Amino acid sequence: GLPARVRIHEVGARDGLQNEKTAVPTAVKAEFIHRLAAAGLTTVEATSFVHPKWVPQLADAEQLFPELGDLTGVHLPVLVPNERGLDRALGLGATRIAVFGSATETFASRNLNRTVAESLAMFEPVVARAKEGRAHVRGYLSMCFGDPWEGPVPVHQVVRVAKALLDLGCDELSLGDTIGVATPGHVQTLLSELNEEGVPTDRIGVHFHDTYGQALSNTLAALQHGVTTVDASAGGLGGCPYAKSATGNLATEDLVWMLDGLGIETGVDLAALTATSVWMAEQLGRPSPSRTVRALSHK
Ligand code: HMG
Ligand code: MG
Repeated sequence: GLPARVRIHEVGARDGLQNEKTAVPTAVKAEFIHRLAAAGLTTVEATSFVHPKWVPQLADAEQLFPELGDLTGVHLPVLVPNERGLDRALGLGATRIAVFGSATETFASRNLNRTVAESLAMFEPVVARAKEGRAHVRGYLSMCFGDPWEGPVPVHQVVRVAKALLDLGCDELSLGDTIGVATPGHVQTLLSELNEEGVPTDRIGVHFHDTYGQALSNTLAALQHGVTTVDASAGGLGGCPYAKSATGNLATEDLVWMLDGLGIETGVDLAALTATSVWMAEQLGRPSPSRTVRALSHK
């Protein structure tokens, strides 16, 4: 059966905007996040405390995060790769952080300048200190299905790093199909294998990209398996600057259209969300790639 309710982890302001060629003004980002929250999204990933040279688009994290202080009851997770990033995030009062690992060596090297083992060692004190401070910790795992340089990624390799992230103390995992090559059978195989290795489904979220048009099919497969946390990006913004061919995240509007149709609760007001993505597309100077945004805004 399908779940009665799905928690959407909105990544547009981070995963979306980190990939824009032009820097979006801090005030526009703040308004975007406020509008996403007003549309009913309760988890809105805000920014990243990474090296500003690596992701210049999010170099204004120190200016942006305090602008969100009035958003009570909305979780505002931020990405943190290392202790330097953790200090910056905790210093501003962040209570939810996310580390981001890779199932493959090539992406770990390109995204974090570390091997997989070195990146886990880098995360260890981050997770430990975050947990000491009672912060919630998400562990992203990229390239769970395929890698642009290494090709298909063996399930056992993904399971190994997933377990390592949970062993560090991460509260939840987000399985990333960073380049959007997954198909539903592969999704179910990975989820089953994780369960067999002792990872319960309630600690797993899914993060799909729509490169091959499979993001919703993959999401449905995950829901059928019992997953209730789904990452999505308003208007389908985004990708990853360090992953060749990582185009559009699953659009939040496309996800909400499907979930509404299935009678699955999300708390999201689709009209308000679509209006937000239309507004953001105007700010960025190009139309949203989301089919649902296009359909609803041309009515
Ligand atoms: P590095 O060059 O190895 O850094 O980069 P380092 O540890 O050698 O430090 C060098 C200098 O950077 C030091 O300064 C540090 O203090 C400073 P110095 O002492 O030389 O003056 N530094 C920092 N400054 C500010 N904030 C920091 C920070 N860390 C070090 N946090 C590093 C290693 C991890 C920092 C770098 O590789 C990095 O920032 N990577 C982030 C890349 C990124 O954000 N990628 C996108 C997110 S992942 C993604 O999008 C996938 C996902 O969406 C899911 C999916 O779809 O798969 C999550
Ligand atoms: Mg993504």
